[in-house]
Amino acid sequence: MDSESLLLSLELASGSGQGLSPDRRASLLTSLLLVKRDYRYERVLFWGRILGLVADYYIAQGLGEDQLGERKSLYSLNCMEWSLLPPATEEMAAQTAVVKGRFMGDPSHEYEHIEMQRMTEGDRTYEDEVVIQIKEESRLVSVIDQIDKAVAIIPRGALFKTPFGPVHVNRTFEGLTLADSKKLSSYFHFVEPVELKNKSLLEKADLDPSLDFMDSLEHDIPKGSWSIQMERGNALVVLRSLLWPGLTFYHAPRTKNHGYIYVGTGCCWMT
Ligand SMILES: *[C@@H]1O[C@H](CO)[C@@H](O)[C@H](O)[C@H]1NC(C)=O
Ligand SMILES: *[C@@H]1O[C@H](CO)[C@@H](O)[C@H](O)[C@H]1NC(C)=O
Repeated sequence: MDSESLLLSLELASGSGQGLSPDRRASLLTSLLLVKRDYRYERVLFWGRILGLVADYYIAQGLGEDQLGERKSLYSLNCMEWSLLPPATEEMAAQTAVVKGRFMGDPSHEYEHIEMQRMTEGDRTYEDEVVIQIKEESRLVSVIDQIDKAVAIIPRGALFKTPFGPVHVNRTFEGLTLADSKKLSSYFHFVEPVELKNKSLLEKADLDPSLDFMDSLEHDIPKGSWSIQMERGNALVVLRSLLWPGLTFYHAPRTKNHGYIYVGTGCCWMT
C-alpha cells in the first residue's frame, strides 16, 4: 500500500467536498495494510467511496502478481473492517441494471423490481407480475466493475508486460514528461484491452508491446469525456471523467506517483 499516494488521492477527493476526518484517514491506512497482509495481495489500492443514503461504502481493491489479473474488491463501512465482495458477473450486471436511485449503504438491503413475465398454464399463456429481489451487494459489485471498465486509468509506462507473461508494476517508472502528461494518448485504461485487439498490424507498428498493451484514452467514446488540468503550478496533472463524475485521476509528472479515486453516488449521468 502506497500511503503517500493514498493521502494525495484523499486530499484531491476532498476538493469535491467529500473529505475524510483525520481519524478515518488513519484507520484506512492501518486497516488496508492489514488487508494486504491477511489476503496476501501484491498491492492494495484504495478505490474510493460510494455515497449512500444511510452510510457510505469505502472500497479497496487487492491485486495479485499479474496487475491485469482478477481484481478483488472489498468494502468497509467504518474504514476498519473490510469484507470481500463476490466477483462481478454479466448476469449480475443485467439484473442490477434496472435498479435506479441512490444506494442505501446497507449491503443486505434488497430492492424490489416488478417484471412482467409470460406464464403458461396448460394451453393458456398470460402475463403476470413477478417481484424480483435484488441485493444491494450485487449492485455495488456491478457498479464498481462498470466504473473500472470505463474509467480506471494508469499512465503509460507504469506497468510493463513480459512476453506471453503477466503484467507487472514497473519499479523504475519515472513518470511522464510534462509535455506527455497533457496528452490523452499517455494514459491507458487499466483493464484488459478491447480496442487494441482490433488494430491492424500496420496500426500496431509504432507500439511497443511491452508498454502499449492496453487501450489508450485517445479514442474514448464519447469524445471529450475527459478533462485534463494542470494544478499546483504544473506539479500535478488531474484528469476528471465526465462519463463518471466523481472519478479523479492524478499524476505528478516526472515522479512515479499516480492514482485514481472515485467518490460519488455510483450513478452515471451521461447515459
Ligand atoms: C519502466 O519505466 C522506465 C522509466 O519511465 C522506462 O524507461 C522503461 O522502459 C520502463 N520499463 C519497462 C520494462 O517497460
Ligand atoms: C472488434 O472486432 C470484432 C469482430 O472482428 C467486432 O465484433 C467488435 O465489435 C470490434 N470491437 C471494437 C471495439 O471495435
